[in-house]
Amino acid sequence: MIDPSIENNVEAIEAWNTILFDKFLRFRDALTVGLALHGDATLERHPPPIGARVIDVGCGFGDTTQQLARMVGPTGLVVGVDAAARFIQLGRQEAEAAGLANATFLVADVQADDLGGPYDQAFGRFGTMFFASPVMAMRNVRKAMRPGGLLSMVVWRSKAENAWVHDVEQKVLEIIPHVDKGDQVTCGPGPFSMASPDLVSAQLLAAGWERITFERFDAEIRIASSLDEALEFAMALGPAGEIIRLAGDEGVRKHGAVVAALRELLAPSVRPDGVYGASSSWIVTARAPA
Ligand SMILES: C[S@@+](CC[C@H](N)C(=O)[O-])C[C@H]1O[C@@H](n2cnc3c(N)ncnc32)[C@H](O)[C@@H]1O
Repeated sequence: MIDPSIENNVEAIEAWNTILFDKFLRFRDALTVGLALHGDATLERHPPPIGARVIDVGCGFGDTTQQLARMVGPTGLVVGVDAAARFIQLGRQEAEAAGLANATFLVADVQADDLGGPYDQAFGRFGTMFFASPVMAMRNVRKAMRPGGLLSMVVWRSKAENAWVHDVEQKVLEIIPHVDKGDQVTCGPGPFSMASPDLVSAQLLAAGWERITFERFDAEIRIASSLDEALEFAMALGPAGEIIRLAGDEGVRKHGAVVAALRELLAPSVRPDGVYGASSSWIVTARAPA
């Protein structure tokens, strides 16, 4: 039987509101630059029109909520939704400071809670991969749409196609091969849970969406400004960071060996303006039935 705290996202939400919030805040600049390349590609292809009502699913700090609010203008409305109250608190403060009265925020579990609406467009920049039940969550989003409303979300392709995390993880696994998660909280299904177009299209169809498309988007992303920062980032975030964190004492014991191995791995990726890695996503679109 699945642990109910996993099924209803309680564990994942706790992780996002604690350990993952702290890490995302610490590496916010590095992360945002990389994620923005993929988010911008999605918004360029599927921009919301002036006056549109948009929901930003799993909005995090609300960078894209602000971006969308500027795109739809004062006659439009954007609602940034996130299950982690600490992200929303900061997102709300920053949107207010930017004078964006048409950007509003809601703390809600996308899988279970009322999302308001009806919306013309639903957008998600890497915010839809963490639901225990993706079908329930995407159905809930679909129910909040006007007939014919557009979903555009960007999700990671497979980990193997994302060298910026995969190569580092493989290297760490050579040093710490087995990790027992114990009772520590984790982020839920994980960043690569929507990598398969067959699976995701089946989930979206089951959730009542139509006319599903996938476009592959590849980009070299700058993961850090220096090798030291890249090491810090690699040790703290993503699958490699999770292995080290979950390994507890062993992670601490093997810290030196991991740092040395990652330094050697990442050195060839250093360029004059920072450290780069290959990344790849799916830009997914779908329509609510007209
Ligand atoms: C990888 S972050 C992306 C944040 C943001 N979209 C960005 O691009 O900066 C994923 C976000 O999804 C949120 N999230 C995870 N599970 C959720 C759920 N069940 N309902 C709403 N938000 C959720 C997390 O709190 C986190 O802020």
